[in-house]
Amino acid sequence: MSKASAPGKLILFGEHFVVYGLPAIATAIEARTTADIEKADKYSLEDNRPETPGYKTEKYGQQIDSIKRIFKAMRIDPNKTPVKITLGGDLVAASGVGASSASCSAIAAALNDYFGLGFDKEKLNEIAYEGEKGYHGTPSGIDNSCSTFGGFILFTKGPARNVIAPLELQLSLAMVVGNTGITSNTMKVVEEVKRQREENPEKFKAIFDMYSRIAGDAKDAIEKKDPVGIGALMNKNHGLLREIGVSCKEIEELVGIALKNGALGAKLTGTGRGGLVIALVNEEDARKVATAFERAGYRAEMTKIGAEGVRVE
Ligand code: MEV
Repeated sequence: MSKASAPGKLILFGEHFVVYGLPAIATAIEARTTADIEKADKYSLEDNRPETPGYKTEKYGQQIDSIKRIFKAMRIDPNKTPVKITLGGDLVAASGVGASSASCSAIAAALNDYFGLGFDKEKLNEIAYEGEKGYHGTPSGIDNSCSTFGGFILFTKGPARNVIAPLELQLSLAMVVGNTGITSNTMKVVEEVKRQREENPEKFKAIFDMYSRIAGDAKDAIEKKDPVGIGALMNKNHGLLREIGVSCKEIEELVGIALKNGALGAKLTGTGRGGLVIALVNEEDARKVATAFERAGYRAEMTKIGAEGVRVE
């Protein structure tokens, strides 16, 4: 029997823009998905992860495709060497938190351990990326990189290779995560943004230019340990995400509540059109923002960011 775990992630800056080669900043969170592998007569999957209601059913077809891709990338034939995969952990499977990437990373690492394949983290990240294709179609790679390597990363999708630069952060940031309760379809939303960009190239060029400045300023603000600056840039980033059409009524409500209750900045994270909102807060305001989310009928979690990447347990 082998067991591995990998963290969820939050994108601090640059979801969607990252798909077009612009830099994004993401961080691993404390909550993790575990994958157990054991010998079996026939391949099977048991998914015990906690979830936003409906998430697992909605993603089931994509999950099957994803695991097939992982087996293929690792040259494992589940008919010849059948295993049972059991998923668990405390990461609530929801849109925007890297649920698919955490499970791909954890499954890849657990299979690597079980079959004694000896792959390093770089190779495991490539395998997790193959698994992500089952969920996203053409993922940028930011989610699996964050779940695999952990910490804070500056990620740029390259034409040939992705550039993954860890950011050395001695900065303790408190984050409140509000959940719209809506499961979004990354593949569909990414496709829609692509179509819109083709229809409005001028508008998108201007937005991409504005985002590029935000990304540069965000890296500086993080390196200067300037939470107020980071918060203001999160707000600007959210404004651009709204412009490209990936926000929704529930996201806007959560962002409004966060800012009204003292958050330094708030934005959607991940795909949008549902999923999660992150609010950067001073530690002492975290409870107040979380309670305000809950009073409005949303689930809320307080989290620390910058957690460890994939590991064998
Ligand atoms: C999804 O978590 C992030 C997106 O930018 C898609 C991707 O990077 O593959 C929307």
